[in-house]
This record gives sequence, structure tokens and C-alpha cells, in this order.
Amino acid sequence: MKKTPYYITTPIYYPSANLHIGNAYTTVAADALARYARLQGKEVLFLTGTDEHGQKIQRIAQEKGVTPKAYVDEIVAGIKDLWQLLNISYDRFIRTTDDYHKESVQKIFKRLYDQGDIYKSEYEGWYCTPCEAFWTESQAGPEHTCPDCGRPLERAKEESYFFRMSKYADRLIEYIEAHPDFIQPESRKNEMLNNFLKPGLQDLAVSRTSFDWGIKVPFDERHVIYVWIDALSNYLSALGYENEAYSDFKTFWPADLHLVGKDIIRFHTIYWPIMLMALDLPLPEHIYGHGWLMFNNEKMSKSKGNIVDPVVLAEHFGVDPIRYFLLREIPFGSDGNFNNEAFIRKINTDLANDLGNLLSRSVTMVEKYFDSVIPEPKVPGTFDEELESILREAPQKVDEAMEHLKIPEALAQIWNIIDRANKYIDETMPWALAKDPEQKDRLGTVLNHLLESLRYVATLLQPFLPETAQKLFDQLGIAPCGFDSLNTLRGMTPGDRVRKGAVIYPRIDLEKKLSELEALAVQDEGAQKPTAKLAPLKPEISIEDFEKIDFRVAKVLACEPMKGAKKLLLLTVDLGNEQRQVVSGIAAHYRPEELVGRSVVLVANLKPAKLRGTLSEGMVLAASDEGDEHLFLVGPQGELPPGSCVR
Ligand code: MSP
Repeated sequence: MKKTPYYITTPIYYPSANLHIGNAYTTVAADALARYARLQGKEVLFLTGTDEHGQKIQRIAQEKGVTPKAYVDEIVAGIKDLWQLLNISYDRFIRTTDDYHKESVQKIFKRLYDQGDIYKSEYEGWYCTPCEAFWTESQAGPEHTCPDCGRPLERAKEESYFFRMSKYADRLIEYIEAHPDFIQPESRKNEMLNNFLKPGLQDLAVSRTSFDWGIKVPFDERHVIYVWIDALSNYLSALGYENEAYSDFKTFWPADLHLVGKDIIRFHTIYWPIMLMALDLPLPEHIYGHGWLMFNNEKMSKSKGNIVDPVVLAEHFGVDPIRYFLLREIPFGSDGNFNNEAFIRKINTDLANDLGNLLSRSVTMVEKYFDSVIPEPKVPGTFDEELESILREAPQKVDEAMEHLKIPEALAQIWNIIDRANKYIDETMPWALAKDPEQKDRLGTVLNHLLESLRYVATLLQPFLPETAQKLFDQLGIAPCGFDSLNTLRGMTPGDRVRKGAVIYPRIDLEKKLSELEALAVQDEGAQKPTAKLAPLKPEISIEDFEKIDFRVAKVLACEPMKGAKKLLLLTVDLGNEQRQVVSGIAAHYRPEELVGRSVVLVANLKPAKLRGTLSEGMVLAASDEGDEHLFLVGPQGELPPGSCVR
């Protein structure tokens, strides 16, 4: 019989830096779904990969003095190692720098151009040179300042190709309304419809001329194709659409599920379906936007210590605890929190206490009372029926949860078996039965039930915790079972032997481990500083150019936050002969009261400009790393009167 195909994808990751546990979350969830589908007997294609083009990567490589390709090659190797470590069972790994992918993207772009969906025009907007970003009129506000850094914006024009998104908007609205589970969870569907589609779509700029690390527009090589057109096409090119590298497009398209984070749901549920409509291709069955994984309730960030580094976590705790925490604790669809304490507590309760103890108690008793030989279930008794009915129902319930992508619920159903089996031990008290030779057969029946429960647990756990499931099968002395084997409650063969092994989850000393992790995080913070990324040097200037700038020492007299602009502070400074007011984007790094009395360096002859409606008469100097993660004001190293020259 032909197997049902199942095509599942993760986003393709930017190899701009090593991945953190938040990125791993999407991939672990996709892996559980892919493994589950394989166990259901489906023909699965699980795709992941990397999104390697774009200005950011070009810039980082330049700063490091290597080619973009050499830079991404190294990061991609690390990403593949991480997936191997986390037991990610992907079938195909696509890189947008692969030739076959480039070929598809160029053909797609050309086709859309030839049929009139892409046209050439000019992009005009408000441009912030330091941030290299265009802003619309409403984003720039009445003062035309950059919403990110507060600096004045310039009117700028760039030639670009545009995609006629507007042409397909109504068709897409109709489609979404007719297919209620196309975008999931429902809240995201409503957000897309009400906030983006219904107010009207603007045509999308789909090429850039400001950098060149990307796939060239085939008929106009000054342009590179916008990174999202390049990236989204991966779902097609990986199947051999418009290339010869693969030939399973017919089998696997349309995709069953694109799993993505909520931050990129708009690209996947608006731009992507419109591209597919323009290409006359069917749309994917489901697009699921999961929530964010937060670290101690803050958005995960690379500067928060290496403890969110999945490699470090795996070294300390093993891989399955990470998979378990991500899959069980993060409500699928909404944001969830990761912190070391909650993580360790969860390992101790669910994995060590509940599952680990059930296994070791059961196998130990079979070893002790039956010389490791699996006993026959000869004498039914009270409590058996309830446990059996939980076992009978569990596969169906897990199935229902997985059908609706409720992964935590599926795991909760498996833990329901574990909890019930632990309770069954308390109820039947096998240690007491063992004291009475007359009860030997009843004891054998109880132990048989426990082993059978563990077999159900192991079988159902395979997609989620593959290593743990294997350990359970090993100790039960059986080969891994398929889902079909759960149609009968007689899966263990009496007479076969269990094989007691090591404790699968030793209890972790919470306090001790937390302080170890704390120490590591501190070390890591220190280690990060010298490797800060450097901006490339600007072109040479003459001494005359330099002398045009009048740097002066200025003393901060007063400082207050700027209303409505979180990043800005308003400083009043003494310049010797006069006072000035200066708006500065340093609010994320200094509290106003810290600055009063300090001497700073001011560019005193900079043309005054209005920032967020407030006049700024100069600019204070600060040193910062790339991305402004660390920023320090510059000032004289000793006492000098305000107004002193800086040369
Ligand atoms: N390259 C694009 C995707 C293109 S897909 C055609 C991209 N890459 S990314 O590396 O920035 O992000 C990849 C995925 O990681 C996204 O789904 C994003 O939501 C997810 N996550 C990044 N940080 C995350 C958390 N802290 N928590 C959960 N998911 C997170 O976007």
C-alpha cells in the first residue's frame, strides 16, 4: 500500500551566529511531529536548513575579514552538529547558497516578472543612514526621525522590483476564511486578517541594490533578490521545483505543515501564499505560528550567558531533558519561559521521580522476585481494570492531541499512564504480596501490568524522547515497538527476561547545579568581551576635514527622560560660555541621575536638529560595540573646565 506523504518544514535559520535554545525549540517540535508521523506509517519528508543571504551576514563577514560564504560555512557546520546532538531526524537540509536553490529562485523571479506580477519602480521613503533602514511617512513621524535611533532621516530613493501583492489580497482573504485551520492558532489568523490583509496590502519591494550578498535578479544583475523571496522559495526548491537536484515535488507538495515562530508568521501567511497563488500552486495545508521561548521572562538574547546554549545544557543534563522541557512546558502557541531552576525541577519531578522510579522499581522487582523473567498475568485483581483502561485509551488520546499539534497535551497523556502506574504500585503493594507465597501469581500479574504500562510509555515516547524510549525498551528487554503493537495489552512475552540497567535519571542536586551554572554564566560574560565585533573602518579623511569638527568638554547640568521616546534622554550641558540642550539616544545605558555632574565630549558645531520634536544642539560622544549592546560615554580623564577643546 502506498504510504501517505507528510511534508513538514522548519524555518530556515539565519547563520548569523550560533543558534540558541529558542531556535532549537522550533526544530525539536518539528522533529517530534516528524517522528510521530513516521511511526504512524507515513512517508515523511522533514526539511530544515539555513537562510544565508542578506546584508547582515555580509556585514558580519566583512567585520571578521572573511568571505560571506566562508563565514556561513562555519556556522552551518555548527548548526548541523547541534541538530545531530539534539537527535533531529531531518531528511533534507537546504542551504540558500546551494546552486540548485539559486536556480529555482531565479526561475521563479523571472516567471513572476514575465507574467507581470513583478515590476520595476522606485522605492521612496525616509532613510536612516546609520541604521540602513527605510521608514514610511507615518513611521518617521512629523519630525522625520528614525524610530530606532532617533537620528534625523533623509528622503531617499532606491530603484527596486516590486511584487503586486495587492492583486492577490482578496483571493487570499477568501482562502483564509474558507479554510479556518490554514493559519493556526486561531488568534494569529485573526491578527493577520484584521491587522494586515483587510486594511489593504502594499506592493512589496523584492530586490535590493544596496548590497550584493544574495541571488542576483537574472535579467538585471545590479539587483539581488529580497531575502524573503529567496528564503520562502526553499520549501519548493528543496523538492526539486524548477531544478534537477530532487524530483519529489509531486509527492510532497503541498506541504502538510510549515512550523514557524510568531515573528515570521506574516511572511508565511501573507507573502508566501500570494507567491504560491501567482505561481499557480496549491497552498500548504497548515501554517502554525508558535510562541516565543523567554529566558527568565526576558526575550532570549545571545548576551545573557551561555546557559541558553543548548550544547552547554546538553553537556550538563543530556539531550532528552531539553527536549522534554521544551515540548512539555512551553504551551504550544503561546510564549513560555525557560529558566534553569524550573528546568531542573522538571527533570527531578517528571523524569527522575515519576518515570525513572517507575522503571527502576518495576524492573528491580521482576529481577528480585522472578529472577528477571517476565511473569504471566494469571490472576486478575482489583485496580487492574482502571490501569488497563488508561492504557487502552492513551494511544487514541495522544493521537488526537498530535492531530491538533498539542504536543504538551500528548505528553501529559503519556504521563497520565506513568502516574496511574505509580499509583497502582501503591495500591497493589507488590512488596507485601511478595511476602506471601500464595500470592506469587497475583504478584506476577501486578508486575506484568507494570511492564506492559512501561512498554506503552516507551512506545508512545519515541517521537518525543527517542533516547529515553530506547533505554526503556532496553531495560524491558524488548525491541522498539511500533504503534500497531498498542492494539493489544499483551505485548510482553512471559518467559522473556528484563535487563535491569542504570538509573535513567538520577536526581539532580538543585542548589549545587544552579550555582555551577551561575558560575559558568559569569565566566562566559567575561569571555565574550574581547571577541566583540568591530565595525569596518571608514574611508580616510584629511586633517582639514577633521578640523572642521569642534569637539568640546561639556558638563552635564541636568538630565531627564524624553516623553514618548524610550531610547532618548534630554541633557542640559554647560559649554563654558553657554548652555545647550542635547537629545541623546543613551537611555538604555544610563539613568538620568547618573549623568548629572559628569564631563562629556560634545560635537559643538553640529547643525541643530529636532529629535522627536525637541531641539538638539550638538551631539555627545559615546563608544559602543556593534548593535550598541554595551555603550559608554566618552569624557576627559581628568578635571577640565567646560568648553575646553578636544583635539
Ligand atoms: N531566516 C528567517 C526564516 C526564513 S523561513 C523561510 C528567520 N530566521 S531566524 O534564525 O531569525 O529565526 C528562525 C526561527 O527561530 C523563527 O521561527 C523564530 O521565531 C525562531 N526563534 C528565534 N528565537 C526564538 C525564541 N526565543 N523562541 C522561540 N522561537 C524563536 O527568521
